[in-house]
Amino acid sequence: MINTSKIRKDFPILDKKILNQKDLIYFDTAASAQKPELVISEMDNFYRQNYSNVSRGIHTLSVESTFAFEEARVKVQKFINASSEKEIIFTKSATESINLIAQTFAEKNINEGDEIVLTTMEHHSNLIPWFLVRDKYKCTIKFADIDKNGHIDKEHFASLLNDKTKIVAITHLSNVFGTETNSEILKLCNDRNIPVLLDGCQSAAHLDIDVQKLGCDFYVFSGHKLYGPSGIGILYGKEEILEQLPPYQGGGGMIADVTLDSATFTGLPAKYEAGTPPIVEAFGLGVAIDYVTEIGMNNINNHETELTKTALNEMMDLDFVEIYGTSSDKNSIISFNLENIHSHEVASFLDVEGVAIRAGHHCCQPLMKKLNVNSTSRMSFGIYNTADEIKVFINAIKKCRDFFKK
Ligand SMILES: Cc1ncc(COP(=O)(O)O)c(C=O)c1O
Repeated sequence: MINTSKIRKDFPILDKKILNQKDLIYFDTAASAQKPELVISEMDNFYRQNYSNVSRGIHTLSVESTFAFEEARVKVQKFINASSEKEIIFTKSATESINLIAQTFAEKNINEGDEIVLTTMEHHSNLIPWFLVRDKYKCTIKFADIDKNGHIDKEHFASLLNDKTKIVAITHLSNVFGTETNSEILKLCNDRNIPVLLDGCQSAAHLDIDVQKLGCDFYVFSGHKLYGPSGIGILYGKEEILEQLPPYQGGGGMIADVTLDSATFTGLPAKYEAGTPPIVEAFGLGVAIDYVTEIGMNNINNHETELTKTALNEMMDLDFVEIYGTSSDKNSIISFNLENIHSHEVASFLDVEGVAIRAGHHCCQPLMKKLNVNSTSRMSFGIYNTADEIKVFINAIKKCRDFFKK
């Protein structure tokens, strides 16, 4: 059990009144989580007291900054149970992390005729980087089917794997369905020694992540969805694989020796962190990790799955609501449409009621086509949400239906 009333006090934005002085109900954590006071004040304090560039100077501030930056890396390592801090690369976002792997992995491993396996429900951030690879290296992308709840079809997935499959890149938790990828899918890849990239954008804030147990070779997520700041992304990669891959971007900090003719590169993780990194953002992510760790990822998961069940049960009773994915293993995300009302109208109507939801294609246009819709509304939960807020939401969608029926 988590103490939601206490947690809510940690988030200053939850005191904000929306439009007609309505209490804010924030059901858009899947897009970006709100920030606890601790993260805001510690980052503010860091700028005031400790800030300097990292890994470059020998003066006190530089040493302090570097220490805090590297300490954040260790916090991430422990948070996802990577075996070494060298396996944690700071990027600006999960999107950048996927692009980094797509480009460097392809340069080393992908040739004409090779195959990459994705699913039909991937976020554009886990599609387009691979499209760029396909166009550059003339390889093929195969898409695993999913069922109506967003579970990957195991038989179909297995049928796609063969000697030409160089990498599998799939979501760990769907940003549309809220369903988690079954560990059997990863096992199919592990048994065939096919490297797997897991897009952990939606799982890192809701599940207790252990990259070693999961059996993934790469795991990516963004700090802003885990109650940390924007501008910081994580790439976890197995050390032995990252060591073999070429550099991604060139610049300061990633070199061992430079002449006017050539350069040699330094080891992990600096090899992938060219230029001044997101210093305070990495520090802020470390603070956010401390914050959620203190609450406990299992407690967070229990709270959010309970909220999901409550909302799902209530919504399934309403005949004007179509829900995309109704399986009981959904976590924190419910996508839906109200009969004959566009999702943008639903979101605008709810906004007037103080309820913030997301509406649109959720960066999953191929999935929207598969679901035969242009867009959906999406509610998503975080640690600060309550069952009472779900009641307000249910009343608001009833009111919305009545309004548009007139
Ligand atoms: C499943 C999934 N993958 C990737 C991303 C991209 O994350 P970012 O925009 O933080 O790079 C998102 C963000 O919404 C997401 O939900």
